[in-house]
Amino acid sequence: SVTSLASSDGFVRCLLQKIPGELVLTPSSSSFADVLVSSIRNPMFFNNATARPLCIVTPVDASHVQAAVLCGRAEGVRLRARSGGHDYEGLSYRSARRGEVFAVVDLGARLRAVSVSGGGEATAWVESGASLGELYYTVAKSNPGLAFPAGVCPTIGVGGHLSGGGISMMSRKYGLAADNILDAKLVNANGELVDRAAMGEDLFWAIRGGGGESFGIVVSWKVRLVQVPTTVTVFVVGRNVDQGAADVVARWQDVAPSLPPELTIRVIVRGQRATFQSLYLGSCADLVPTMSSMFPELGMTSADCREMSWLQSAALIQFWNPSTPVEALLNRRTSLSTFTKAKSDYVRRAIPSDVWKNILPWFTMNGSGQMLLEPMGGFVGGVPAAATPYPHRSGVLYNIQYIAYWSGDGTAANRWISGLYAFMEPYVSSDPREAYVNFRDLDIGENAVAPNDVSTFESGKVWGEKYFAGNFERLAAVKAAMDPTDYFRNEQSIPPFVGPK
Ligand code: FDA
Repeated sequence: SVTSLASSDGFVRCLLQKIPGELVLTPSSSSFADVLVSSIRNPMFFNNATARPLCIVTPVDASHVQAAVLCGRAEGVRLRARSGGHDYEGLSYRSARRGEVFAVVDLGARLRAVSVSGGGEATAWVESGASLGELYYTVAKSNPGLAFPAGVCPTIGVGGHLSGGGISMMSRKYGLAADNILDAKLVNANGELVDRAAMGEDLFWAIRGGGGESFGIVVSWKVRLVQVPTTVTVFVVGRNVDQGAADVVARWQDVAPSLPPELTIRVIVRGQRATFQSLYLGSCADLVPTMSSMFPELGMTSADCREMSWLQSAALIQFWNPSTPVEALLNRRTSLSTFTKAKSDYVRRAIPSDVWKNILPWFTMNGSGQMLLEPMGGFVGGVPAAATPYPHRSGVLYNIQYIAYWSGDGTAANRWISGLYAFMEPYVSSDPREAYVNFRDLDIGENAVAPNDVSTFESGKVWGEKYFAGNFERLAAVKAAMDPTDYFRNEQSIPPFVGPK
């Protein structure tokens, strides 16, 4: 097996023949620990029990990624690709499998260029290690009328985010981040660098939402940039439980997925309060009449409006401090103070207001965290379910993310999130109970590896159909064609489908 043949000395020696020594960090390198921790988001996976990589490769260009794959295959060492390190289960820099020998290819260290080209359709090539904040900043500085529809947190890496979809405050207008990928350069399991034309449409389909790690290492992406007006409007309106929060959230479920696509209102439930956060791609004067006619229950008025540029809105929605400069979007530093556990659901039938009255008390319990509701519909809901691997399209009202956090003992927080997830089962999608691959959750299943050292299709199906529904089998068929020996893998990578066609 790859593991038993692994030769760590051989791997490093092989690398040093192909790439500059300063790009290969072994545990004895002075910067090893700094680079390893640099993008770890969840301190749960930064303790003495966490298996360390045998080295970290910090590529400057695609040839260094190719060298890592060729040496890894020759010497029996697996690779974990890391872009922004935000994987909820830490799978980009740790292995949950005892004894697995692996190296980290850390794209976030040095592979972060963003180059924007105007002309007819505005596009950009972005390297996988760039953060979303770096992408937003570079695009908007080159032309304030342009943006990219991807996640809210600016330290997320482009590589992992685009691989799994990418839900944003503009998904209802422009789709997922992955719906806006035009081309990509990937190092495949043979160590070849291939673009869209060379990889073929099946693989190009799979890497736009099929989750990171399974098909190779994406070095860079060509994305379609989207138009935003000079002025956008942000508002935040909150309702406490004793101010009828349950009824307003219940009403939101019907309204938010069918609002004009320029208007996104998401909800954060925490403590005694539901907070409605909104981005409108237009002016306050246009927004207020829409809100009064379509969602009067929220009681939003022009006094709630804050008008600004799209780039400023990206900073405000993250930092909630109007005096924080947009340059804060470039800060890649993450804090290691908060431990987190997240889970996800999709809702296709509105949950009755009476049930919301029973859900909200969960947020005052010992160990309680928060729930984030992101409305779908609009463009994101209109894409056919098989057009990309992300299947949660037509008929989905909204996505739920449950987040537990703690610093110190996590027993109550973990008990809380699994209790709430169990409580929600009757009210969310079923057969399968859908989940979002970018909110990675190992509780829903992990691959088993067969004696031939290949992850089994049957074990993958358990979690895979939750993330990918009817697209899972096609992903597994692409995997079988591109990486039949399962070189690129982790605990939730797509297994090769070897059954009858
Ligand atoms: P990371 O580097 O950890 O990689 C994630 C996975 O992709 C790993 O399996 C990794 O091996 C693989 N991978 C990474 N780079 C690769 C590459 N170049 N080629 C192939 N595989 C690669 N999501 C969302 O849709 N909308 C949101 O608003 C948010 N908000 C959010 C906030 C916070 C605080 C967190 C921690 C997470 C989110 N997310 C999110 C989830 C986020 O989209 C998800 O964790 C992404 O996978 C993170 O991508 P990174 O590159 O940062 O992760």
